[in-house]
Amino acid sequence: MTRLDLYGPVHKGLRALLFDTAAHVARTEFASAEETVAALTAVRRARHFLEGHIEHEDHDVMPVIARLAPELFADLEADHARVTGLEQELDRIVERVEAAHAAERVALGRKLCERFTRLVAEHVIHMEREESQANRVLWAHLGDGELAALEGKIVGSIPADELAGWLTLMLPATNLGERAGILARMSTVVPAEVIDRLTSEARWLIGPEGWDATVAAVASLRNAESIGRPA
Ligand SMILES: [Fe+2]
Repeated sequence: MTRLDLYGPVHKGLRALLFDTAAHVARTEFASAEETVAALTAVRRARHFLEGHIEHEDHDVMPVIARLAPELFADLEADHARVTGLEQELDRIVERVEAAHAAERVALGRKLCERFTRLVAEHVIHMEREESQANRVLWAHLGDGELAALEGKIVGSIPADELAGWLTLMLPATNLGERAGILARMSTVVPAEVIDRLTSEARWLIGPEGWDATVAAVASLRNAESIGRPA
């Protein structure tokens, strides 16, 4: 039986963002002011999503893990401290790159590339730990209704423009079933016209064919739910 996965889809979006950003930084010629600005903008965007993600986990999911599995909580908390420390180091490098002259920028750009790659590696390992070990704990102790309520609490706390950004990240990075699940659960609490607005960029990235398939999958999920519901 497929369980509601709080981590998987959002982590797929974050991994796509991390890999794309790492590739962008790697091909950047830091002697070029223009390329440097574009790379720093990409790094700041990735930072923004990573920070928001850890905040939501710390605020809404980690207290549940702390209650159910204190040892795993300690491991995940140590992971969060480690990646946050790396992110802060990255912020300082970004500031130095911004203030540097062309020659100095090349050396700092190399450092930025190295540290960003390390951040990607740490995040990938950390996210895998959550997807396997934390999900195992959540699935053993909570029903899908409780997990959906937790997801709803997180989604409900995100301002609309930020939520649109998350959907732009997650929907193109997930498979059809996951994408349809996200939208079907959202459609129970968010009006269709708002979902249309929030998904405009994701729709464009997925393309008309992929989006038509998504809409059909959402409809069949909602249909299956209403059949399962008592009259
Ligand atoms: Fe985490």
